[in-house]
Amino acid sequence: MSGVEEAADEGVRPFRQLELRDVPAVVEQLELGMRHGAESLDAPDHFVTVLDEPELPEGAMKRVDAKGIPVLLYRDANGVRAIGAICTHRGAPLDQGKMKDGCIECPWHGSVFDFDGGGVVKGPATFPVTAYETRIKDGKIAIRPKA
Ligand code: FES
Repeated sequence: MSGVEEAADEGVRPFRQLELRDVPAVVEQLELGMRHGAESLDAPDHFVTVLDEPELPEGAMKRVDAKGIPVLLYRDANGVRAIGAICTHRGAPLDQGKMKDGCIECPWHGSVFDFDGGGVVKGPATFPVTAYETRIKDGKIAIRPKA
């Protein structure tokens, strides 16, 4: 049995070799990660205000800019959730996707990401999007990377 088969048998996602077509999405994620890292190192408790609360009613989804980082907000009865707005597969704008059962479906190739943690529910994407902690204070929605 190969290592890939063993990993699949154990419920672990087998490693997929990166292809040239993956490079743009990987570079984007590295750049975003570096920016996130810089922010969290400078001020780990710092929330970034991204939107006035009334601009995101329950059931709404909105793309915002958090100091140059595109972030997708979604609000339901449980509150506001936030994930990276760029698909990790090939860089599609997730704000143009469809919401379903607390997940967002990419408009280009159908990857599905969980809004709670950014995880991949369905490929072809293999990397999660960044998930953010959210806060509503003084009528403003703010986010910061989850610890
Ligand atoms: S760009 Fe999102 S699934 Fe391909």
